[in-house]
Amino acid sequence: IDIASLRAVTGGITTIDPGFKNTGSCESAITFLNGEEGILRYRGYSIEDLAEKASFLEVVYLLIFGELPTEEQLTKFHNDIKEENHVDEDVKKILNGFPKSAHPMGVLASLTSALTAFNPDAVNVDSEEDMYAAIVKLLGKFPVLVAWTMRTKMSKPLDYGDDSLDYVQNLHKMMFSKPNSEYKVDKAIIDAIDKLLILHADHEQNCSTSTVRIVGSSHAGLFASISAGISALWGPLHGGANQAVIEMLEAIKADGGDTKKYMAKAKDKEDPFRLMGFGHRVYKNFDPRAKIIKKAADEVLEQLGVEDEVLAIAKGLEKEALEDDYFVKRKLYPNVDFYSGIIYRALGIPVEMFTVMFAMGRVPGWIAQWREMRLRKEPIGRPRQVYIGETLRAFKPMEER
Ligand code: ACO
Repeated sequence: IDIASLRAVTGGITTIDPGFKNTGSCESAITFLNGEEGILRYRGYSIEDLAEKASFLEVVYLLIFGELPTEEQLTKFHNDIKEENHVDEDVKKILNGFPKSAHPMGVLASLTSALTAFNPDAVNVDSEEDMYAAIVKLLGKFPVLVAWTMRTKMSKPLDYGDDSLDYVQNLHKMMFSKPNSEYKVDKAIIDAIDKLLILHADHEQNCSTSTVRIVGSSHAGLFASISAGISALWGPLHGGANQAVIEMLEAIKADGGDTKKYMAKAKDKEDPFRLMGFGHRVYKNFDPRAKIIKKAADEVLEQLGVEDEVLAIAKGLEKEALEDDYFVKRKLYPNVDFYSGIIYRALGIPVEMFTVMFAMGRVPGWIAQWREMRLRKEPIGRPRQVYIGETLRAFKPMEER
């Protein structure tokens, strides 16, 4: 059966699947995920191999174009990105217009959307060449927006980066350079950021990626689609969980470290509290990213000489959950966000920036999925519904209501 004519064949039957728990929205050749066995692969390469052996920019190229780049391809790609790593000075007016209390995710979504105004040539893209031009523009400017969002929040002067650095080093410099002091690359820090960005780079049809695809399916431009993805990522049930996890661990610490009390709260159906960083729509065995991040958290904290009490609380919660019937029965395991915040914090990244770092990592996945959707000439995303409201009613004049 031609899937497009299924409704006609079935006489107009509409399937209802709240949260799309059983509905595939597209065919995709980007990311393979097996939730039962805890497998994640980008373009056929295991996440374990990529996190260990690749750089973030190689993974960006792999996700978008389907193959690991040769040295020559990677250099050209990086040079094209560097050509575009300037942000219009007027963007600063928007940045400075936000109150200091503004959440960085709201600021980032707005600035990304504003790129449409400053780069009108990148809005209507149909050919592969136009898509490439829009993609390198976004990859050039996004780290600047991320860094500027953080520095403005922290009342620090903006940094314009350094073209001689690699992609992740330059992001780190723009975030952390100090005025009047030379920026030095710290390998342990850059390796940790590289790994975190790679682990977050794509995750097939999650909430934010589906948002990017559906917004892009109306042929809205790349920047508008990515801005919508950032807004979707912000929520605590999705990317916002990394901030929520640290806040939860801090609250447990401040409350005397009584993990059992919080386990009981999480299991109490009358209590809205959930164990943040636990559970996943697709992983029902373990999240392979969480395994890698847990190990990295131990290594990074040791390398940086940072002691963080909440790491012990997190490990305690995980141990208790793995032995608890409630969590075992529902197959709830730590997800990617359970340990990531502990690393971000050790790197000096403010808690409100954690989800922004997730967005920085997820940008290549969003781009790859948007590009695939456009190249496959997918139709506009437009789900149906089953109407459960009133039937036809006679209009009531104001005096009779
Ligand atoms: N703490 C306590 N109970 C939980 C948790 C949790 N973290 N997660 C799920 N459950 C329970 C639910 O109450 C439900 O119980 P029930 O069957 O008795 O009603 C059962 O487990 C199934 O949960 P659902 O909410 O139906 O699962 P769903 O697939 O819709 O949600 C989600 C997945 C949103 C990730 C959920 O597990 C959650 O809210 N986790 C906490 C937030 C979080 O960490 N989000 C980040 C996810 S990873 C990412 O987006 C990057």
